[in-house]
Order: sequence, then C-alpha cells, then structure tokens
Amino acid sequence: MEQQNRGHMARQVTPAYDRNGAQLYVGDCVEVMAALPAESVDAIVTSPPYAMQRKATYGGIPEAEYPAWTVAWMNEARRILKPDGSVIINIRPHIKNGQISDYVLRTRLAIRGRGWTECEEMIWNKKSGAPMGSTKRPRRSWESLLWFAKHGRPYSDPKAGGRESAWSGTPSKFKDGHTHNLQLTSWAGRSRVADVVDMSVRLAADSDGTTDHPAPFPWQLAEWCGKLITPPGGTILDPFNGSASTGVAALRNGWNYIGIDAVPEYIEMSGRRLDHEAGKEAA
Ligand SMILES: C[S@@+](CC[C@H](N)C(=O)[O-])C[C@H]1O[C@@H](n2cnc3c(N)ncnc32)[C@H](O)[C@@H]1O
Repeated sequence: MEQQNRGHMARQVTPAYDRNGAQLYVGDCVEVMAALPAESVDAIVTSPPYAMQRKATYGGIPEAEYPAWTVAWMNEARRILKPDGSVIINIRPHIKNGQISDYVLRTRLAIRGRGWTECEEMIWNKKSGAPMGSTKRPRRSWESLLWFAKHGRPYSDPKAGGRESAWSGTPSKFKDGHTHNLQLTSWAGRSRVADVVDMSVRLAADSDGTTDHPAPFPWQLAEWCGKLITPPGGTILDPFNGSASTGVAALRNGWNYIGIDAVPEYIEMSGRRLDHEAGKEAA
C-alpha cells in the first residue's frame, strides 16, 4: 500500500451532492478517485462506457485504447479500495465485421496483468435485451459481470442477494443414463447462489420515472452485485454513475454511496433521483 501511495498528490474535490448518505461528484473518475482517501471504499459496482458505442451521447473510448484506459481507472480503484474490497464491471463486446470484438478480452487480460484477481464471471441475462448483430445468428441477450479483487479471498456474501441454487455436489450415478431421476439435494452451507442473474432491462426505465439516461442498468442489478461484495453499512462507489442506479441500490440497502460522472447533467439528475428515493424511504 505504501508503495502505491508514494507520490500520490491528492487534490481537493467538492461533491456536487452530499446528503442521504450519498456523495456525487462531477468530473473524470480517475481525477476524482485520486482525491479520495486510500482504503476507504468497500466495493465498486459499475458499467463503464463501452468502446465507442455511445459516442454521440457521452463519448467513448477507442477499442485500441480501451485496455490501457481501464487499467488507469482500476489503478485508482485499487488505491481507494479496502484490502478485502472488490470491483464488479458490467460490460459486453459488440459484433464488428462479423466477429465478436476482442477489446473486452484484451481488457480482462490487462487488468489481470496489473495484479488483480479475476474471481468470477457472472452473467446478466437481460431477457428483453435488444437483438445484437446479424439476424442470421442467435440473439445475444446477456452481458458479463466481471468480478475483480485485490486478492483471491475478498469480502463476499453470495447468499445475501440470491436464491440458493437447488442442488450442489455431483449427482450419483443414474442406472438408465438419464437425468429424470435426478435427486435434488440442498446441503446447508454448501449450496451456491446461481451465477446468472435474470433481470429485464425494462426495469431500468420503469424503476421510478426519474431516470433519463441513454444506458442505465436496473438498480436491482446493482443491488444484486452490491449485496455480493458490500458488507453491511459499507461504502459502495460507482465511478461511471450515469443515473445513480448503484446509488439507489445503496440507499435501499443502508450502504454509503459515492458516484462520479463526467457529465454535469447526469449528476444533477442523479441528485433528484436520490432525493426522490430518500423521500420514499422517509414517507
Ligand atoms: C454506461 S453509463 C453508466 C450508466 C449507469 N450504470 C446507470 O445505471 O445509469 C457510463 C457513464 O459513464 C460516464 N463517463 C464516461 N467517461 C467518464 C469518465 N472518464 N469519468 C466519469 N464518468 C464518465 C458517462 O457520462 C456515462 O454516464
């Protein structure tokens, strides 16, 4: 840690919003994170801009630069995360020239190359997600939730946010070779929560009518991820705040929230959304 902080020159940043256990900052996330204290955040749940796919609205990062760009913000994330803290990144590649673009793969390897442990890849099954790519291919309706930690045993509570899967262990032999006799067993303390989270993308738009962002994820998705990696009463951060979906999840679960976005209008909108959310709680 000492080595990581050497030469770190923190500049003061002032939150544009600071109430209801939440702080919102306008600015580049690397610069704002650089001003936050070391080891002060438990968890990061975020959906960064995908390479050039929202160029017209809030900009994008060319595919060739995406791994280095990600490593830069992950470096700051590492400094502000507590030792047991971790990051969940929601991302998907797109089809380019008939092929799945490789920038997500390259980015994952680049993050690992900087010493992060990639704990798991989980799946957000969007159900109602828009079709992607050619009509001659199956419709892709899922996105990745990539979980990176400072080491291989980060804080986690896999049962906090999910239904336990119905069985665990290896089923015993089937005499007839078929699976219809499968005995489902649930072993207390041994079963696992599924690594696929089903969630309609429509939830994002319908959540409370206060969001007006081109690419929100449902706050329920942020909640699922947050419950996995945020201890009770902990602090969760989203460096690509958008409409503060992660913030809504934080307010609903008693976590402190820090949101950062480069676009001032999104931060203003997020403040209104969090006030609305806090009002609902108070009512
Ligand atoms: C995919 S959206 C996040 C949406 C968010 N998960 C939600 O539910 O509303 C990515 C956001 O990152 C912001 N952004 C892009 N580059 C940024 C940067 N360098 N620093 C901070 N925010 C940035 C964009 O303005 C955009 O709102």
